[in-house]
Amino acid sequence: MGLAEWFVERLALDRFRAKYLGKPFPVHTTFFLGEIALFCFALLVVTGLYLALFYEPSAENVNVGGSVMPAAFASTVLIDSHPFGLLMRRMHHWAAHLMIAAIVLHLLRVFFTAAYRKPRELNWVLGLVLLAGTIMASFAGYLLPYDQFSVTATAIGYGIARSVPWIGGAVADVLFAGRFPSPSTVPRFFAYHVVYAPLILSALIGLHLLIVLKQKHTEPSSSAGHSASADASGGRLISGIPFWPQQSALMAVLFLLVFAAAAALSAFLPVHPSGYYGPPGPATPEVKPDWYLLWVYGALRLIPGDLSFRLFGATIGSEAIGAMLVPGAIALAILLVPWLDRAPSSLYFAEHPLASPARLAMGLAGLTLFAALSVAGFSDELKLSVPVLWVVTLLSPLVVWWATYSLASRRRRASGTLGLGRN
Ligand code: HEM
Repeated sequence: MGLAEWFVERLALDRFRAKYLGKPFPVHTTFFLGEIALFCFALLVVTGLYLALFYEPSAENVNVGGSVMPAAFASTVLIDSHPFGLLMRRMHHWAAHLMIAAIVLHLLRVFFTAAYRKPRELNWVLGLVLLAGTIMASFAGYLLPYDQFSVTATAIGYGIARSVPWIGGAVADVLFAGRFPSPSTVPRFFAYHVVYAPLILSALIGLHLLIVLKQKHTEPSSSAGHSASADASGGRLISGIPFWPQQSALMAVLFLLVFAAAAALSAFLPVHPSGYYGPPGPATPEVKPDWYLLWVYGALRLIPGDLSFRLFGATIGSEAIGAMLVPGAIALAILLVPWLDRAPSSLYFAEHPLASPARLAMGLAGLTLFAALSVAGFSDELKLSVPVLWVVTLLSPLVVWWATYSLASRRRRASGTLGLGRN
């Protein structure tokens, strides 16, 4: 009897094996995106555990060789001075970028194949919470090196939080543990970053995957030719490969590829060199957010600084409009996608992206809007005036919508009905 069989017999795992290990998985590369996000999360936890051994979560000043600096900053520079520590820190940072990129691409796959439709609305909403949670976890991590750049970036976040009408000031002071920069903010953000975020994200990712397991994947229409594998839970026959051993072997290879990508990026491309930025000081460096928040920064640039209005006794200023109202309205529209799309849904089959010219056009127009807003974040460098930015931001999504809709409709008419598989 092999070791595996020994465990199966001792722990009576027969039922588990029959029910779950034979689950069929679609063999389509776009279905790897969610898994890539998952593997990046695992990499973040492992590299983060290593960094936690050396990091000092304190803004108290310490004396290092005659120079006085915050302990958090000194410990980060110390980590960077060890070759392995530097690699771990960079891998942690790169894994965060890769995770957010994988989540965004995964979201786009779900959107363009209409995999958000009934019964998967819940996972769409949960997925967006995961995206927001991952970005917030990154934001908390940004402060931890406590260098000039990270303190300035966090101060901008604090200012935006305070700009929320009525409750902003009080909520910001609670979340940032006092008026930022306060000595309590670093330990508070450390707790958010290493305890709250990993625990909450793990629980939500687990729930997300349980729901996928329960509802089953949508199946790409192109997989119709694959060998069918029975769903052992007694459900419908879904084509794909069984979880064990084929899918698991693919996942292991994918994990190694994600690991290799993060290691290669870390070896060649430095990220956030704290020693270069130096400890926090009175000078404020030019700070732009990372690529995934550039569009919010761009929206802030579009709103005139003196724009404000009064509502129920509160002043809603340009900061609240650009960084809260505009992104909030866009986020709400994305959240409501499953309810705005009223087309009949297929329980099992993913739609071909070209099957719905309206959805394809909306998706590409939305992406163009994000790109235009991100470009607006570089208005100074590009020497673009605010009126020009407004025209580009409003016009480019409309042009993309119109061009995509006309081309996709023509293609659809030419090739008959595309996609929505058989129920
Ligand atoms: C931490 C972030 C996330 C992780 C780790 C994750 C992981 C996964 C995995 C592994 C799958 C199964 C494989 C696949 O379909 O790609 C999946 C499916 C799914 N995810 Fe995510 N996901 C995340 C965020 C999101 C986001 C942001 C959305 C959308 C807003 C989303 C919506 C869905 C939906 C609707 C499915 C079912 C898709 C189908 O059946 O075709 N997820 N997710």
